[in-house]
Amino acid sequence: MSDRPAGDGPAGEPERLVHDGVSEVWRVGGTVRRPCRPFTATVQAYLRHVSSQGVDFVPEPFGYDDQGREVLSFVDGDVPDEPLPDGVWAGEVLVALARLIRRLHDAAQGWEPPADATWGSIPGQQDVVVAALFERAELVAHQDYCPGNVVFRAGLPAAFIDFDLARPTSRVADCVNAMYWWVPLVDPGDRRPAARDLDAGRRLRVFADAYAMSAAQRAAVVPVACQRVRNTAVTMAAAAAADPIFARWWAGGLRERTARAEQWITRQAPRLAAALDGPNCPACLVLRPI
Ligand SMILES: Nc1ncnc2c1ncn2[C@@H]1O[C@H](COP(=O)(O)OP(=O)(O)OP(=O)(O)O)[C@@H](O)[C@H]1O
Ligand SMILES: [Mg+2]
Repeated sequence: MSDRPAGDGPAGEPERLVHDGVSEVWRVGGTVRRPCRPFTATVQAYLRHVSSQGVDFVPEPFGYDDQGREVLSFVDGDVPDEPLPDGVWAGEVLVALARLIRRLHDAAQGWEPPADATWGSIPGQQDVVVAALFERAELVAHQDYCPGNVVFRAGLPAAFIDFDLARPTSRVADCVNAMYWWVPLVDPGDRRPAARDLDAGRRLRVFADAYAMSAAQRAAVVPVACQRVRNTAVTMAAAAAADPIFARWWAGGLRERTARAEQWITRQAPRLAAALDGPNCPACLVLRPI
């Protein structure tokens, strides 16, 4: 888990919160300050909406400070850092994550973004064309459940932060983003030792059951996951060409890992799809499928 300050500095001075260093994020008392970007007002409107629907596991938006930075509530807990602790691969983590995402989706369903809504993306995407992961956007969702954006408490996912990539999407496409990171949907050779022998099919199934996916959603998971990793190869190459942080990740092995993830999921696709098909796991909370 990352080394997060227990509070602001002794004299109340701000403390820099660093994960991958994409954004300059500061903690000031019970708040965080993040740079204001073109999409910030849209994301704050979205956070206000889901909070009004009872979601208490996202930062509260407080507008802007006198330096023009956005102000959000600081969310208590631990944010996992690489190398990820072995405990994050427990089945309960996947169940808690899927249930939080289901609640976030249900709260966002029906929200109409403002007419001037602006959405974020990774760098270099303006000239990139990839296949869409859904026919029709169903709702606005997080879309970036990497470990640095999930806050844990008592060993379980308890909140989401960093909604910079939130945008209109489908429930399945958003779930597939979380599945990629947390099943995970990568070649076993690219996983930490504790995750190497995980049964990806079974874990997809645990997630789908905890989310209470419908049969149609389950059937869409593997095709969407295959397309997503193909898109990643294109979008991350463009991001690497446009931004030095992405260039460092890409040249530092992400390019090869993405290619291996694509080969792995293509080979595994029939087995993964079969694992998702069938009656709900009785141990999981049964929600009304969407
Ligand atoms: N509202 C918040 N509450 C608690 N911690 C936060 C909050 N926002 C950010 N952080 C901490 O700061 C780190 C970086 O913030 P954030 O994820 O918002 O930025 P980022 O653009 O992803 O930058 P990075 O690439 O550094 O992760 C997070 O991993 C987390 O530890
Ligand atoms: Mg982040």
